Amino acid sequence: MGRVAGKKVFITGGAQGLGACFGHMLADEGAKVALTDINGEGAKKTAAAINEKHPGAAIAIAHDVTKKDQWESALGEAAEAMGGISVLINNAGIGTAGSIETESYENWRLTHEIDVDSIFIGTQLAMPYLKDNQPGSIINISSVAGLIADGMMLSYNSAKAAVWMMSKSIALHCARSGYDIRCNSVHPVFTRTPIVDPLIALGGGGEEGEKKLVRQIPLKRLGEPEDVGYCILYLASDESRFVTASEFKIDGGITAQ
Ligand SMILES: NC(=O)c1ccc[n+]([C@@H]2O[C@H](COP(=O)([O-])OP(=O)(O)OC[C@H]3O[C@@H](n4cnc5c(N)ncnc54)[C@H](O)[C@@H]3O)[C@@H](O)[C@H]2O)c1
Repeated sequence: MGRVAGKKVFITGGAQGLGACFGHMLADEGAKVALTDINGEGAKKTAAAINEKHPGAAIAIAHDVTKKDQWESALGEAAEAMGGISVLINNAGIGTAGSIETESYENWRLTHEIDVDSIFIGTQLAMPYLKDNQPGSIINISSVAGLIADGMMLSYNSAKAAVWMMSKSIALHCARSGYDIRCNSVHPVFTRTPIVDPLIALGGGGEEGEKKLVRQIPLKRLGEPEDVGYCILYLASDESRFVTASEFKIDGGITAQ
């Protein structure tokens, strides 16, 4: 039996990067996974790669997390295919750069719409499914940027800090309501996915650009998607049954400084 055998996991932003890695690792440990993404073709490719190893373990759904009607149909389709939903991973997100002097209001709104509002809309709509499939687990992907600030990350800092605190509110509501549904946030540092490519390019690209990012991290390397994936496996499984309203820093030590 795998660590998450029997779990029915809905993952947003599952086409590439962290979401795709979570899909692979969860399916390797026995879960069924619904990979949703605004990039529907990418989600299909990832699901196909998972199904090659574990036939029937993965489905793909085209889904823009900012759209309420798309959440409704994606949740319905996933629940139908998997026989319910017991784990929700709010992973889709964008990273943006800009200071209080340079950031546009449009970019501020977009960052909050994709990184925060979507979690409100989606988690509210997912609650009935999670209540029907307890024990449940909600895993919200924040960032170290939700805990420590950077002058050039105004919108992203604000959005990811909101994800951190709203996760605790969701967790407390579920606990006080007597639901066996946990909610926690995960805070990765720079991790090797396409989202960090612009940051590496900003630092001069290639090894040089990577070195500049790594300099700030006590463990002296970028995170790998699997480093975050092991935390997700724990939070999706019943191994974390007494853990709620917590934050998990997968950060090579950066937030301790
Ligand atoms: N990689 C890192 O260094 C890092 C660090 C901290 C936090 N994070 C967070 O991890 C999460 C995953 O990021 P990643 O590194 O895999 O990045 P990524 O860019 O590789 O993947 C993000 C995925 O989200 C999808 N997406 C974007 N907008 C969407 C929308 N409106 N609806 C549905 N899907 C949408 C993209 O198509 C993409 O597949 C994000 O929330 C990000 O903020 C990443």
